[in-house]
Amino acid sequence: MSSHGTPIPMKSAPCGALNGLADVPGDKSISHRSLILGAMAVGETCITGLLEGEDVLDTAKAMRAFGAEVNRDDDGTWHVHGVGVGGFAEPDQIIDCGNSGTGVRLIMGCMATSPISATFAGDASLNGRPMARVTDPLELFGTRAVGRSGGRLPMTIVGAKDPVPVRYEVPVPSAQVKSAVLLAGLNAPGQTIVIEKEATRDHSERMLAGFGAEITTEETDEGRVITLTGRPELKPQTIAVPRDPSSAAFPVCAALIVPGSDVLVPGIGLNPTRAGLYTTLREMGADLTYENEREEGGEPVADLRARFSPDMKGIDVPPARAASMIDEYPVLSVVASFASGITMMRGVRELRVKESDRIDAMATGLRANGVDVEDGEDWWSVTGHGPGTVKGGATCVSHLDHRIAMSFMVMGMATQQPVSVDDGGPIATSFPIFEPLMQRLGASLSRIEE
Ligand code: S3P
Repeated sequence: MSSHGTPIPMKSAPCGALNGLADVPGDKSISHRSLILGAMAVGETCITGLLEGEDVLDTAKAMRAFGAEVNRDDDGTWHVHGVGVGGFAEPDQIIDCGNSGTGVRLIMGCMATSPISATFAGDASLNGRPMARVTDPLELFGTRAVGRSGGRLPMTIVGAKDPVPVRYEVPVPSAQVKSAVLLAGLNAPGQTIVIEKEATRDHSERMLAGFGAEITTEETDEGRVITLTGRPELKPQTIAVPRDPSSAAFPVCAALIVPGSDVLVPGIGLNPTRAGLYTTLREMGADLTYENEREEGGEPVADLRARFSPDMKGIDVPPARAASMIDEYPVLSVVASFASGITMMRGVRELRVKESDRIDAMATGLRANGVDVEDGEDWWSVTGHGPGTVKGGATCVSHLDHRIAMSFMVMGMATQQPVSVDDGGPIATSFPIFEPLMQRLGASLSRIEE
């Protein structure tokens, strides 16, 4: 269901070959950051290709509540008139971040070192997710956080009046935590230093540099050491958001498992900190090629071509790759169901605290559809028996999680019997055109009338 709507049950029936062009929407991570940094710059930032999904629209609303002017032209260009670092006004309403962990955590960071307070809330999924991972480091700046037990939303953040810079080693592989600390560091004097043991997506670092902040990244024995000098004047930018590799994963994976398919997904961002799924699929034997590789707006981009791949084999996915494909494990587990042998996914504890417990949600749904799955606290494995072997026929629970809903819809395209989800509404948070786009390629997706 959308953050506020009624459930939308959906069904995906086995279909013929998927063919054509899949124009997936803009990158969610880059879209959030464009709006937030635009709001912290002095002057007008123009954004094209912004993802107009619920998560990002909630961030746009939040930036308005903090005093930035955010408008959309009829041609889809967004304009953000920023108020400058330290220029946020105190919102006179609760900041509702809907389903978005990225939205709430980054926004908490960007207001945490201003002398204002704000109260944050979200939907049932977001209100159940851990926020201490962000508020712990923010408190080092002098910020205060008062939330529900277990560090859950709703939560009030009281910004630091006299922030001090921070040196923080991120204890979990999380780009949201890293980014929240860097955004807070913008309005602290001196140097804020963030250390991450495993590289996570680096869009914040790239974009901060693009907006004119002084930021360096050094690979050391301790890990990646990111140093940001506080109190810069951020210069407004013109940003072309690349298309989202995490959304592209759905048409790509569908093409790999539906016989006869040949799908081209143009202009996909292939930042190495995001592209782990595609390396993994190729190692499994997927017929997946990068065409027209180029650079756009400081991010590597290519057109992805995916064709039906009947001979994929299960592999051990290296745990070191987990951060670069963390959002793609659900749909990888669907592909693994149609490959031959065991696909082992280790070092993925973080999947348990996403929009849902993704290991549990996928394992339960896959088993209900006749797939062999084993799982433990930070690992799971799927045993596949090749194309055409998966029974299907079950209704899966999406747990307010867009990627769970889309993964099971992809699965139903290649199973013997249709696969349903109880609620496809969350898909609108990240991929609002999923249904028509997949239907145009040839998928048999429908809403179930109750
Ligand atoms: C994101 C970081 C990841 C990812 C999320 C987007 C970001 O979360 O799962 O979809 O834009 O920074 P974590 O930081 O919790 O790993």
